[in-house]
Amino acid sequence: MTAFGFSTGQISLTEDWQDYALLDSGDGLKLERFGPYSFVRPEPQALWERRLGDDVWAKAAGRFLASSDDPEKGGKWQLSKDLPDRWEMGFEGVKFYASPTPFRHLAFFPEQSGHWQFCATAIKAFRAKHGRKPRILNLFGYTGVASLHAAEAGAEVTHVDASKKAIAQAFENRELSGLSDAPIRYITDDCLKFVAREARRGNFYDGIILDPPKYGRGPKGEVWRLEEGLPELLSLCASLLSDEAIFMILTIYAIRTSTLSVHSAMAQALGGDRANDLTSGELTSGEVGIVEAADNPRAIGQALFVRYHKAP
Ligand SMILES: C[S@@+](CC[C@H](N)C(=O)[O-])C[C@H]1O[C@@H](n2cnc3c(N)ncnc32)[C@H](O)[C@@H]1O
Repeated sequence: MTAFGFSTGQISLTEDWQDYALLDSGDGLKLERFGPYSFVRPEPQALWERRLGDDVWAKAAGRFLASSDDPEKGGKWQLSKDLPDRWEMGFEGVKFYASPTPFRHLAFFPEQSGHWQFCATAIKAFRAKHGRKPRILNLFGYTGVASLHAAEAGAEVTHVDASKKAIAQAFENRELSGLSDAPIRYITDDCLKFVAREARRGNFYDGIILDPPKYGRGPKGEVWRLEEGLPELLSLCASLLSDEAIFMILTIYAIRTSTLSVHSAMAQALGGDRANDLTSGELTSGEVGIVEAADNPRAIGQALFVRYHKAP
């Protein structure tokens, strides 16, 4: 038994928001609205029938045609000619661009909105207690929506990603949000190398967000494989948590793993022999998901998460 126990089964669902809604799902598909446009994407977990008529589904501005059932594999978008390359979205004071990508998503992940809210609340509580900005590290930060929510709530943010293109998009989202002067450091680096360097330098963070993909590459071709790299990454992240740390949030889309094993990996990393006793915090795990904007809504899990939280 770990010091943290096994309190799994929490669900963090994206509530319907003005710019995003899961309109319908079923028959292996989902129909979502991103701002003024709706899209059809494959959803193997929609194990039920669609409720809305074909006429509603036919109005979609884009549909992703998967080349196979494997979400890791590609496919292509069929897009309406009127659809702009990108358009503005917003969530609680932060703005960002949506645009269809070859990876079947739209350059951000709506199901993570529960994390954005959780982090913003924890950051505000930290500031009220300690009277300073918490230092937050966002690893595999992509287009930076989580970084912007953290900065907007009053954190000093370090955002790391291997892709120059993703960092450029994160800059554009910061400008769009009117947060150009917010204290966010954008770093193009391999996440594992970066955290190892930070640990050697003796740097600390009050909160860490990490969303490692199943497979990826650092800017110098460094290979990231979740199954091989996760224990070292988690243990380095745990060593970077300050005495006043308020959270560490791990999200995993490689859904073939289970919540129990990801929970155990995080408990192991946080429960090691450390000067800073993290075991007085709590660890919860479960799924992040999207829920239909309808009566008797159906919900769809999109990723697993484990969240360490300690009240400031
Ligand atoms: C699925 S995205 C993460 C989504 C992001 N957390 C969000 O909420 O929008 C995965 C990101 O990991 C980055 N990546 C992949 N391998 C990496 C590595 N070895 N070091 C740093 N970043 C990496 C990719 O460039 C990509 O932006």
